[in-house]
Amino acid sequence: MKVHGLPTRSIRSLEGGESVEIIDQTLLPFRFERRVLTTWEDAVEAIRNMRVRGAPLIGITGAWGVVLALKTCHDNESLLKAAEVIRNARPTAVNLSWAVTRMLGALLPREPKDRFFTAVRLAEEMTQEDVERCRRIGEAGLGVLRELYQEKRRPLNVLTHCNAGWLATVDYGTALSPIYQAHDEGIPLHVWVEETRPRNQGLLTEWELREHGVAHTLIVDNAGGHLMQHGDVDAVIVGADRITRRGDVANKIGTYLKALAAFDNGVPFYVAAPSSTVDWRLLSGRQEIEIENRGADEVLGVHGMDKSGKPATVRLAPEGTPVANPAFDVTPSRLVTAFFTERGVFKPEELYSGFADQLSAYQ
Ligand code: MRU
Repeated sequence: MKVHGLPTRSIRSLEGGESVEIIDQTLLPFRFERRVLTTWEDAVEAIRNMRVRGAPLIGITGAWGVVLALKTCHDNESLLKAAEVIRNARPTAVNLSWAVTRMLGALLPREPKDRFFTAVRLAEEMTQEDVERCRRIGEAGLGVLRELYQEKRRPLNVLTHCNAGWLATVDYGTALSPIYQAHDEGIPLHVWVEETRPRNQGLLTEWELREHGVAHTLIVDNAGGHLMQHGDVDAVIVGADRITRRGDVANKIGTYLKALAAFDNGVPFYVAAPSSTVDWRLLSGRQEIEIENRGADEVLGVHGMDKSGKPATVRLAPEGTPVANPAFDVTPSRLVTAFFTERGVFKPEELYSGFADQLSAYQ
């Protein structure tokens, strides 16, 4: 996608894989800054502190983290140790584990001296694959938006939660990919962007949509149900961090409430995700998906810019206030209308058979 008119990706390798450049997402939407990762510990730090975020991008950063690990890990023991730390940098998005397992699967059978170039090649391949998957997810969703537009014959209102745009992937995004493609095709649409407390990833979505020229309105998270009741939402499209084989979906906290409101108001609820987000080992999302609990600071304060343009945090509640901060929730498959995937559109009950040939070798 473009930033200030220039084609940009959220991650790229430098110096033949000796280092990796990311966009520091903790500074957006106020500052667009790149950051260079040179060690695998840098990659872990970037994932943990959400400089990179979004399930597909976390996975790709994990793959590059394994590449960086090979600069110092010259035997199996040290490589496996580093890989486990990378794998566990964040627990909910399965793409991270998927990527690390895939990298190790290619590297461990090789002699240590041959590993670096194999790793760089595979990480590049996975990076490119992610771009292609997200482009196809967009095509799948575009078909649905086209049909919806034929039916409504007026600008479409789509609601989204969190950021599942190109910043959350390598390029295009998942939930936003069909929106970009529909916009580029001339389908008039407007996006309701939920701010997504506590980390306000909605502001990343707002920034992306503004850069691309897509009409949108920022709303607080609690406004979504109200808008649906008043007929102001034609479809909800969200991304996912982990999907079970029966189609339960872990995504950013608050997604479940939107799915309930959508169900109650007859609004279609779509989940856009690549197959690397499906954890084929799991059935019940509520019982089996580990939900990340993050620190109290995210709830006790809000982060933004002060009047002089410097990043600043404002305290909302006194120190010592008891806080719970689950970062994700699970939407049961019965509330999901369909999935937009790189292989097309699937109802929850069709997902398993749609990918039966690739039930993951990498999980
Ligand atoms: O905590 P985050 O910002 O990494 O959470 C991101 C989300 O929940 C996204 O909706 C999900 O990863 C899909 S991204 C294409």
